[in-house]
Amino acid sequence: MASSGEWFESVAEAQRRARRRLPRSVYRALLAGTEKGLTLRDNLAAFDELGLVPRLVGFPGGGFELSTRVMGLEVSMPVLISPTGVQAVHPEGELAVARAAAARGTAMGLSSFASKPVEEVVSANPRTFFQTYWIGGRERMLGIVERAREAGAAGMILTLDWSFSHSRDWGSPYIPDRIDLKTMLRFAPEVALKPGWLLRYANARSLPELTVPNMTPSPKDPAPTFFGAYAEWMQSPPPTWEDVAWLRERWGGPFMLKGVMRVDEARRAVEEAGVTAISVSNHGGNNLDGVPASIRALPAIAEAVGDRVEVLLDGGIRRGGDVVKALALGARAVMIGRAYLWGLAAGGQAGVENVLEILRSGMESTLRGLGKSSIHDLDRDDLIVPAGFERRLGEGDGE
Ligand SMILES: Cc1cc2nc3c(=O)[nH]c(=O)nc-3n(C[C@H](O)[C@H](O)[C@H](O)COP(=O)(O)O)c2cc1C
Repeated sequence: MASSGEWFESVAEAQRRARRRLPRSVYRALLAGTEKGLTLRDNLAAFDELGLVPRLVGFPGGGFELSTRVMGLEVSMPVLISPTGVQAVHPEGELAVARAAAARGTAMGLSSFASKPVEEVVSANPRTFFQTYWIGGRERMLGIVERAREAGAAGMILTLDWSFSHSRDWGSPYIPDRIDLKTMLRFAPEVALKPGWLLRYANARSLPELTVPNMTPSPKDPAPTFFGAYAEWMQSPPPTWEDVAWLRERWGGPFMLKGVMRVDEARRAVEEAGVTAISVSNHGGNNLDGVPASIRALPAIAEAVGDRVEVLLDGGIRRGGDVVKALALGARAVMIGRAYLWGLAAGGQAGVENVLEILRSGMESTLRGLGKSSIHDLDRDDLIVPAGFERRLGEGDGE
């Protein structure tokens, strides 16, 4: 746990601390977003449009029920760690995140672009789902997936929403291929302003890793660089629904498709690919700009397939009340991205635990205000959903 002086009371404060502590380029890489940032902003604004319906008397008391099951695992709360490439944020990177999630009883998605090997992350938190993009082709995918299986990953996440849009109006940070002495000198003015960040690495006797060790079939193979792997991915032909079904079959265990925003594609994921779960997601606004907030697409998708698969949501979760809103609109659980990245930057494992605690206590106080003690009792009547809020994308197609 964080020592009391380090404790922060909101995700907004974690972000302020991250901004103070990280070199500008690293901070901006986490801020991310694409083009004009329309989707990035809508992911946050949409939650603000949803109101809560309070209840004064009738709260049952007797503790809160926050636990649920996701992809075959019991989790202590409906908040999971979404996969992100946590490059150069903290020397312990995904290991710190995995330990925090384990300590708080929840599961984690580990990105194939992460900086720590899946074997180490699974030993830090056995409730780890390995996330991959479609890279190379079937044979190449098998190598990546088999390694995750041997490492003991509890599930597979296939993320397909990426359009290789690399520009944004507020400028993209320069990300080096490797951090060596030459790069450190180039970054010297930025780094000199953030000695605490460098000190953490100096204490850990390492430099930030910009390699992706999970992109090889064996942990013994040399790890490719982030950009080497990214270039391979860019050149890969995209998968068909048959490919998705094939991968799900080869994996054999719990399988999530991440990035679904359309009702027709949610149906195909269930009917043609046989997935266990989907995450309604627009990649945190880092993909196609102009796509609506994921929470706007959630109700139609939950109505269409919620009785057949687990429907999760990610994008814009910053407080416990946001989690409650997503659950009331049909999500089984949510995944968080930036919220825990700010926590990681602010305080390593303790910072991530701090964020999970903020969300947990925020859920409890929201539930109490709604007069409910269990997340399983939430429904749409707990919310004020303004007219025109929803986006029912791809509804009617494929029927
Ligand atoms: C810096 C950064 C890196 C990310 N890397 C990945 C990734 O490697 N794989 C993936 O499926 N999603 C990735 N995402 C998307 C997140 O998993 C998640 O969908 C998104 O962050 C949710 O939105 P939020 O940040 O508003 O919570 C990344 C997001 C950020 C901000």
